[in-house]
Amino acid sequence: MIQYAIKGGTPLVGEVEIGGAKNAALPILAASVMTDDTVYIENMPDVRDTKVLLCAMESIGVMMKRTDRHSVALNASNINSLVVDDESIKKIRASYYLIGALLGKYKRAEVALPGGCDIGCRAIDQHIKGFRALGAEVTIEHGLIKTYAERLVGNHIYMDVVSVGATINIMMAAALAEGKTTIENAAKEPHVVDLANFLNSMGANIKGAGTDVIRIKGVPSLHGTEYTIIPDQIEAGTFMFAAAVTRGDVTVKNVIPKHLESITSKLLEIGCEVEEADDCIRVVSSKPLQHTHVKTLPYPGFPTDMQPQITVALALSQGTSIVTESIFENRFKYVDELTRMGANIKVEGNTAIIDGVSRYTGASISAPDLRAGAALVLAAMAADGYTTVDDIQYIERGYEDFHLKLQSLGAQIELVETEKDYQKFKLKTG
Ligand code: EPZ
Repeated sequence: MIQYAIKGGTPLVGEVEIGGAKNAALPILAASVMTDDTVYIENMPDVRDTKVLLCAMESIGVMMKRTDRHSVALNASNINSLVVDDESIKKIRASYYLIGALLGKYKRAEVALPGGCDIGCRAIDQHIKGFRALGAEVTIEHGLIKTYAERLVGNHIYMDVVSVGATINIMMAAALAEGKTTIENAAKEPHVVDLANFLNSMGANIKGAGTDVIRIKGVPSLHGTEYTIIPDQIEAGTFMFAAAVTRGDVTVKNVIPKHLESITSKLLEIGCEVEEADDCIRVVSSKPLQHTHVKTLPYPGFPTDMQPQITVALALSQGTSIVTESIFENRFKYVDELTRMGANIKVEGNTAIIDGVSRYTGASISAPDLRAGAALVLAAMAADGYTTVDDIQYIERGYEDFHLKLQSLGAQIELVETEKDYQKFKLKTG
């Protein structure tokens, strides 16, 4: 089994280039089926989730050409099936973006029900409500969501919960519906805005993305485009917290500082220095970390996808901190692993009460999901001694070359496959 082997205790120092945003790339790739013209996408992260989605798209006849690792040309003029039931697609949440995209274009889609990280109940009622409001019939049968419409007609849709996925799905279907659609209580995440910009670059008429109310005037068809995906807010935030926990000095490059404000403000609160420039942010952690309280919220609040990373930092901070998870109910599963490394955290419902400790110690741990996995790697880099992290396939879902980027900042981390590899790593780093 492939694992990360990590020797902790080295402050991370240097610069790291942040890739394209996974959670923007996934809907953008899916939306590229909405035109018969060729779509050119750049700054695509080369991570497991984008690979799985591209494979599923290929399985229904989308033609694609990778011009380099981060660029792809897609052409969906010869789609031969509106049923996406590829075995691997069930493993990624973003499979459901193909429903909105195919429904918009072909008025019909059947897609395997999504999986994704096990971080709590991940309802899809708001997606279904939105599709039905546009005139589609929606049923769930044999593990597939089946949607069909004679015509899609714009409507006024109020979202009962703020949902990134439902906002995106409805926006895609409505872009090719007849008439006007208003989505109220829409998600405002940067990737929602990026998808709207992408669709607009294909000829859609979408206004208000990034606010609570998105207004869409349906158009009859979309055309090809060339588009560059925004930088990944969460990858950037993860490296910023890596600097904090290892007492390092890291500059994240190719970022949009505005997207990182909630993360930056928490780093300042816990005692890091943060310097912002146009497209990079430097985080220096030279003083003892301080406690704080944090509650995850939809954008522009503190992202749930950064909750494990901040918890890892707060568990090494002076005093008592409280972390409240308000988006997903099961996102503290990694706390048991962190406890095995010496953290003192009590979880009550959706709240973690953290009594800071002065150090972690290395242990043999498993990544329970994508972000928690990355956060545990941060803990390992801050820990005394050696850690192995298994189930790293979760981390590879959303971080490209994670261990290589960490190595470039001085981290002692390697991929190991056998006990012999691990012993070699220990000899080399001992
Ligand atoms: C997206 O998931 C992201 N995934 C998640 O990132 C992220 O954690 C989440 O948004 C919140 O920011 C992708 O973009 C592929 P939601 P999504 O719909 O769209 C409830 C990562 O680590 N809800 O905004 O599935 C839901 O149960 C991943 O990169 C309903 O009740 O999240 C949750 O409590 C993990 N009904 C809340 O809304 C619905 O129909 C937010 O979910 C839909 C959602």
